[in-house]
Amino acid sequence: MTEEMILANATLVLPDETVTGSIRIVGGTIVDVATGPAVPVGATDCKGDYVSPGLVELHTDNLERHIQPRPKVDWPHAAAILAHDAELASTGITTVFDALRIGSIPSGQRYVRYARGLWRELWQLREQDALKISHFLHLRAEVCSETLAEELAEFGPEDRVGLVSLMDHTPGQRQFRDMSKLETYLKGKLGLEGDGFMQHVADLKAMRDRYGDRHEVETVQAAKRFGAMLASHDDTTEEQVRVSAGHGITLAEFPTTVEAARSCHDHGIKVMMGAPNVIRGASHSGNVAAQDLAELGHLDILSSDYVPSALLLSAARLGEIWGDFACGLRTVTKTPAGVVGLDDRGELRAGARADVIRFRMRDGTPALNGVWSRGRRVA
Ligand SMILES: [Fe+2]
Repeated sequence: MTEEMILANATLVLPDETVTGSIRIVGGTIVDVATGPAVPVGATDCKGDYVSPGLVELHTDNLERHIQPRPKVDWPHAAAILAHDAELASTGITTVFDALRIGSIPSGQRYVRYARGLWRELWQLREQDALKISHFLHLRAEVCSETLAEELAEFGPEDRVGLVSLMDHTPGQRQFRDMSKLETYLKGKLGLEGDGFMQHVADLKAMRDRYGDRHEVETVQAAKRFGAMLASHDDTTEEQVRVSAGHGITLAEFPTTVEAARSCHDHGIKVMMGAPNVIRGASHSGNVAAQDLAELGHLDILSSDYVPSALLLSAARLGEIWGDFACGLRTVTKTPAGVVGLDDRGELRAGARADVIRFRMRDGTPALNGVWSRGRRVA
């Protein structure tokens, strides 16, 4: 028997407006969206709670945090994957692009290789129907590394790689244009400062000179081979955006300046910013504030980045800034789904996947009252 569920008397978050209405779900699909406060027999009365599409997260390194909860701790992977999956479900995320870094530096014993093995383990759990939400792979390709080409070759179209981002974290540019911020960051992360820091910078610059251009070309080719969308990362200048557009990139992760974000829009590239940046009112690397881009109309998509629960909170906050709740929520639903070609979700409409969340605002903070992934209650 196919189960039916009706969420009625809800404030439905549609792509362009919020309306009082109900949705009917049958067998994992939304089959009907109706307006009006009626609560049919057998329906759940949401008493005005928001009902929105489940959130679509394109860039989170949350899985890494569960695998390595402290430096040098390698937590049992199956347990870490299940905890990560459940944590995202609990924050309203029903589709995730798990961001795994490829491109390691074995000679400096920095960045171990982990993506290939970890994704295989996640996939095994998915095949056992042990995961609550929908997972895709986002390969974060670091061109300033030694092993990027080898690691790209370990993946293929069967790995459901939805996104490949072209990253270049060579010191002195992009995210780390401000070297004093980089030193502060690395002091905290690796305990590097003074001469050790200077040596580290020189090593990475030499590595970029040696491998960078070749890695860039190979990453663009690999994305085509996977059938994945290609994203830029930390673009800072108009020239960098122009190069990104030339690669066929349609999504920019975390452009670091107003100039770069504006240029992305000139090239038809969607701009994604970090949700924690919206909540904190500043970037942790000292780059442009997401709120400033939002006010200028240069922000399209939010990513929870390193705080899963920031996604819904920041979308609601953007709704406030723009004076348009539906517009705020669209940055974490329809727009991210669209940029990666997932047209089966991200919107409350008949025929869409029943990825749905129910929540109420409590003093500016969304509190979830239910999360469904393909019609199945997951939180
Ligand atoms: Fe970055």
